[in-house]
Amino acid sequence: TPELIHSVKEIRAKVRAAQKSGLTVGFVPTMGALHEGHLSLVGRAAAECDIAVVSIFVNPTQFGPQEDFAKYPRTLDADMELLSHYHPVWVFCPEVDEIYPPGSSTVVTPPNIALPLEGEHRPGHFAGVTTIVLKLLNIVPADIAYFGQKDYQQAAVIRQMVIDLDVATRIIVCPIVREEDGLAMSSRNRYLSPEERTAALAISRALRIATERLEAGDRDATSIAAGMRAEMQAAGIREIDYAVVANPQTLETLQTATDTVVILIAARVGQTRLIDNCVVSLT
Ligand code: PAJ
Repeated sequence: TPELIHSVKEIRAKVRAAQKSGLTVGFVPTMGALHEGHLSLVGRAAAECDIAVVSIFVNPTQFGPQEDFAKYPRTLDADMELLSHYHPVWVFCPEVDEIYPPGSSTVVTPPNIALPLEGEHRPGHFAGVTTIVLKLLNIVPADIAYFGQKDYQQAAVIRQMVIDLDVATRIIVCPIVREEDGLAMSSRNRYLSPEERTAALAISRALRIATERLEAGDRDATSIAAGMRAEMQAAGIREIDYAVVANPQTLETLQTATDTVVILIAARVGQTRLIDNCVVSLT
């Protein structure tokens, strides 16, 4: 099984020693409850770098007071088993106090791309994300860090933060891994009842229908967004935070689609909040 490291000092020393001896380090930050989506990033890191470091840390500062921090799945034994298929892998799994000792109070203000969409519906979330990701990149000063397109806005926020704050690590964003029926893999999918699991399929279906309309030449982004809402509502999804066609660089919602767009959805299925997206490039 992979090497398990709990302390900041130890992982940083190991990464530095590896790099000093000429090895490259790839880093995959996660909150655990690993699935094929996470593993695609680990596979990429293991293929492209000499050593893959995976962090498993359920970061309290990116959860709102009404969100699922306490009940977020923690499955370290299963995660270690899944990671044992890759090597060499170092797993960094710190306690909350190791990352946020008493008195720690500095936070990163996220870039403006954090303001719409998730930023509006999860106040404070991206400040938590930028703070933990910057800390992790300081603890694990990797050559390359891997993120998933599943969290499209998060990846955009991290890319911009790394530019703005001169972080030396290269950022690579990897494609969304889906279940066979289209549902985007997520640690939160395990909260879904069988009925909710069926309803949740309307999210990826709405993205596919929207993509087909764009591919057929439809440029009426407002009508395409309304179509996505209707598809989800027909499946019994009532709490839709957003369903938009947006500029892939700025995340501004579009009334008229351009040749390259990103379609983004966030919706609650029962108590479970799910997100998904799809980039459509017609050039
Ligand atoms: P977590 O939700 O565990 O996701 C860790 C990484 O896996 C993220 O980069 C996410 O985009 C990617 N990922 C999740 N599901 C995926 C899928 N179906 N296909 C491809 N990639 C997928 O995102 C976080 O953790 C946290 O915010 C973190 C960055 C670790 C900071 O705490």
